[in-house]
Amino acid sequence: SPVPVTLAYGDGIGPEIMEAAIKVIEAAGANIAFERIDIGERVYNAGHSAGITPDAWESLRRTGVFFKAPITTPQGGGFKSLNVTIRKSLGLYANTRPCVSLTPFVDTKHPSVDLVIVRENEEDLYAGIEHRQTQDVYQCLKLISRPGCEKIIRFAFEYARANGRKKVSCFTKDNIMKLTDGLFHKVFDEIKTEYPDIETDHWIIDIGTARLADTPEIFDVIVTSNLYGDIISDVAAQITGSVGLGGSSNVGQHAAMFEAVHGSAPDIAGQNIANPSGLILASVLMLQHIGQSEVAERVHNAWMKTIEDGVHTGDIYKEGRSAEKVGTKAFADAVAQRLGQA
Ligand code: NAI
Ligand code: MG
Repeated sequence: SPVPVTLAYGDGIGPEIMEAAIKVIEAAGANIAFERIDIGERVYNAGHSAGITPDAWESLRRTGVFFKAPITTPQGGGFKSLNVTIRKSLGLYANTRPCVSLTPFVDTKHPSVDLVIVRENEEDLYAGIEHRQTQDVYQCLKLISRPGCEKIIRFAFEYARANGRKKVSCFTKDNIMKLTDGLFHKVFDEIKTEYPDIETDHWIIDIGTARLADTPEIFDVIVTSNLYGDIISDVAAQITGSVGLGGSSNVGQHAAMFEAVHGSAPDIAGQNIANPSGLILASVLMLQHIGQSEVAERVHNAWMKTIEDGVHTGDIYKEGRSAEKVGTKAFADAVAQRLGQA
C-alpha cells in the first residue's frame, strides 16, 4: 500500500520546483500517498507565529516523512524560523548534504568535487537561546552537548562506512571556543578510534572553509556543528555550479525531512526559470529512505541523463555548448521522458 508522506509546496519558487519534482517521481512510479500541508508565509501572515498549524503537526507526527519545498521566513522579531522549529521538534539531528561536480556538463571551477557535508541540526547557535541583555546588548548562546556531538559524529562515520567513503574531516573553531568546539573535537577524536578503516583529519573552520573553496577535492565527508555546516554547505553547492543543485536529508530517530539546500529565491519566483534539481535529488534521498530504491535509482538516472544531454536551467548554463536551455517545467518533462531510458 502507498507510503504516507507529508508534502509542502512552500513559498517563492517552492510551488514551481515542487510541481516539477512531483511530476517526475509520480511518472517514475513512486508508491506514495501525499498529504498536503500548508506552511510558511501565508500561515505566518494568518497569525501563526511559527508558520505552521496544529493540523500540519498532526500529519508530520503521523507520517514521519516530510517532503518540503523551501519557505520564506519573514524578517524581524516575533517570527520563529519554521525550518529550525521543525528540525528541533521532530528531532532531525542529522542534516546530510551531498555535493558533486557534474563535469563536464555543468560549469564549475572545480571539476572533481565529490563530498558530503554532515551538519549537526539541533544545537549550537540555532538552539534558540537568544535574548536581550540590556538596552543595547543582545545575547545568543551556543549550546553543544556531549550526546549531541556523539550522535552526529557517529552518524557521519556510519554514513561513511555505508557509502564507501574513505575519510571524515571534522571542522571546528576549538582554538577559540575551547569548551564548546573543544568538546566537538574531543568527541570526534574519541569516536574515530572505533572506525580504524576510515581516515580522519581536523580543520579549524576558517582555513578549512578556504580549502573547501579552493581545493574541495581533498575532502570526502565533513562533519561539523550547525552554523558552520550551514555556511560551508552553500559554499560547497555553489562551487559545483549552483545552489540549485543541492538536495539534502534531515534525519532523526522517528522522522525524516527531505528538501533542497537553497531557499525560496523570491528574486526569480513565478518565472518558470528555477532549477528543480535540488528538490529532485532530495526526492531521490526520500525514496531511498522509504524503501523505494528502484524508483529512486530510476529518477536519479533520468535526471543525470537529462544533464548529460545538455538540457538545463539557466543557472547552470555552460557557454558555447550545444546545449538546450529550458524552464522549470520543460526540465521536469525532459527528466520524465528519460525515465527508464538511462
Ligand atoms: P536563496 O537560496 O533562496 O537564493 C540565493 C540565490 O540563489 C538567489 O539569487 C536565487 O535566485 C538563487 N537560487 C536559489 N535556488 C535556486 C534554484 N533552484 N534555481 C536557480 N537559482 C536559485 O537564499 P536567500 O535569498 O538568502 O533566501 C530567500 C528566502 O529563503 C529567505 O526567506 C530565507 O529565509 C529562505 N530560506 C529557506 C530555506 C528553507 O526553506 N529550507 C533555506 C534557506 C533560505
Ligand atoms: Mg542555509
